[in-house]
Amino acid sequence: MAEITPDPIMRIALGFMAAKHLFVASAIGLFEQLAAGPATLEELAAKCGVPRRTLGISADAMASLGLVERDGDRYRNSPTAMAFLSGGGGADLRPMLRFFDRISYSLWLNLENAMRVGEGERQFHRFSDEQQQIFSAGVEAFSAGAAAALAANYDFGQHRRVLDVGGGTGSFLIPILRRYPTLRGTLFELPGACAVARQRLAGVPEGARITVVEGDVFQDKLPDGHDVLIVANTVHVLSAAHNLELLKKMRAHAAVGARLLLVDLWMDPSHTQPPAAPLMSGEFLVISGEGQAYGEDTADEWLAQTGWRKLERRPLAGPPSVIIAEAA
Ligand SMILES: C[S@@+](CC[C@H](N)C(=O)[O-])C[C@H]1O[C@@H](n2cnc3c(N)ncnc32)[C@H](O)[C@@H]1O
Repeated sequence: MAEITPDPIMRIALGFMAAKHLFVASAIGLFEQLAAGPATLEELAAKCGVPRRTLGISADAMASLGLVERDGDRYRNSPTAMAFLSGGGGADLRPMLRFFDRISYSLWLNLENAMRVGEGERQFHRFSDEQQQIFSAGVEAFSAGAAAALAANYDFGQHRRVLDVGGGTGSFLIPILRRYPTLRGTLFELPGACAVARQRLAGVPEGARITVVEGDVFQDKLPDGHDVLIVANTVHVLSAAHNLELLKKMRAHAAVGARLLLVDLWMDPSHTQPPAAPLMSGEFLVISGEGQAYGEDTADEWLAQTGWRKLERRPLAGPPSVIIAEAA
């Protein structure tokens, strides 16, 4: 019989230390400074502007987690850190780490209370300008892989106008419109997120084909005239009752045959897969006050109740997948 040890508990309990070490290593520029090549602690300390002793604590923690490799007295980025944390072009997860560190980390202090009372506090309407920037950039970094996969794997050539409800900074619209040069887009968002989206869209050519509309999906009219509607990573910030209201409202707005694309961390019937989803349920609860990750089975019930006919669910990059439905 295999020996039962406390190791799994210790590994999980130390997880918050691993995460915080990672946020700080990224914040002080450890991976960025190693982008040019291996360096000693002395060299790194000077480049990061951090005392050698505490830089050593950070570098050794990252080495123990496999994000930095050590060869004698020199440290270098692991291939994963080089690809996603060094700022060397391509996918960059540093804005997501910044969001988790600067916004989520302190919100998780509210998790126990939210669990006990059944809801948390809604943060979206109370972000400062700086927090909104950090949140929106972090979500965009989180969404980048799934957004690129949706643009590549779903045929938007059959559509003319796409509406992205809760569209963030245009994380989905930008790669989709980049691939489909005649497609036009509308981004519907709360005012704070719209301010960041306008800045972001002003810097890319696709921005000229995207109209930004400020509004609250539960208070305001949705923009008309779209034949494909996206809701990406927004179902999980809403309660079941709000999702039913949203899907009903979108169906009332859509012509028969219009497509609905629901991108989220849809869970399997056991609600344990993909593993990121049940963990991130806590994040969605503390940041929105009412959200959580949902199962595909739950989405199926909502769609059937609100006049949408489900066509399929397709995997995207990483944990998110897309449920494709049609206005019946
Ligand atoms: C997790 S973000 C997803 C952003 C983007 N769709 C993406 O996947 O990168 C959820 C977004 O929903 C927006 N949101 C939340 N409640 C909303 C509401 N009542 N009306 C409009 N947008 C809302 C938030 O401002 C936030 O940008």
